[in-house]
Amino acid sequence: MLNIRRAGPKDIPAILDLVKLLDLAYPAQSFKNFRVAEANGEIVGLADLEEFADFFFLSSVGVAAKSQKQGIAAALLNKILGGLKKDVYLYTTIPDFFRRFGFKIVPTWPPYLPPKETFSCRECTPETCVCMVKKP
Ligand SMILES: CC(C)(COP(=O)(O)OP(=O)(O)OC[C@H]1O[C@@H](n2cnc3c(N)ncnc32)[C@H](O)[C@@H]1OP(=O)(O)O)[C@@H](O)C(=O)NCCC(=O)NCCS
Repeated sequence: MLNIRRAGPKDIPAILDLVKLLDLAYPAQSFKNFRVAEANGEIVGLADLEEFADFFFLSSVGVAAKSQKQGIAAALLNKILGGLKKDVYLYTTIPDFFRRFGFKIVPTWPPYLPPKETFSCRECTPETCVCMVKKP
């Protein structure tokens, strides 16, 4: 059974392993706001959802390779995004995936978002990286 919950300090080593494996790690990463999907006591999915005064910012969405294509990311995102009352922003190279959850591409995004550089995005594939928003 899948248990979706807010991560605590004891989860940090497993989260760190998974973000590294999925190439979602970046130097300034904080582990205060992770949500995890746990199956049989093992963290198989994760997402970092940080709350700001006027919006949320979603990053580091990933599922362990062996557990992909089983609906785990969908279950995690549907649970953590459901009922949020503020805009949720993200940067991604896979907009088609996030469209499924109500995100739309923002052609010019607000200057108050965390800079893309924070997530090392510039170094991966800037030409395919977009900003998206999901409205409440
Ligand atoms: C993207 C990722 C999180 C999807 O996790 P997952 O648990 O395999 O996804 P799910 O099984 O919940 O898939 C939900 C739906 O999204 C679709 N989907 C999955 N990956 C997709 C992609 N890259 N592009 C478009 N659709 C995608 C699935 O086909 C599924 O559709 P269905 O409901 O019609 O069957 C996972 O592949 C991953 O961790 N990738 C590496 C990390 C990454 O790229 N993260 C995003 C960084 S911006």
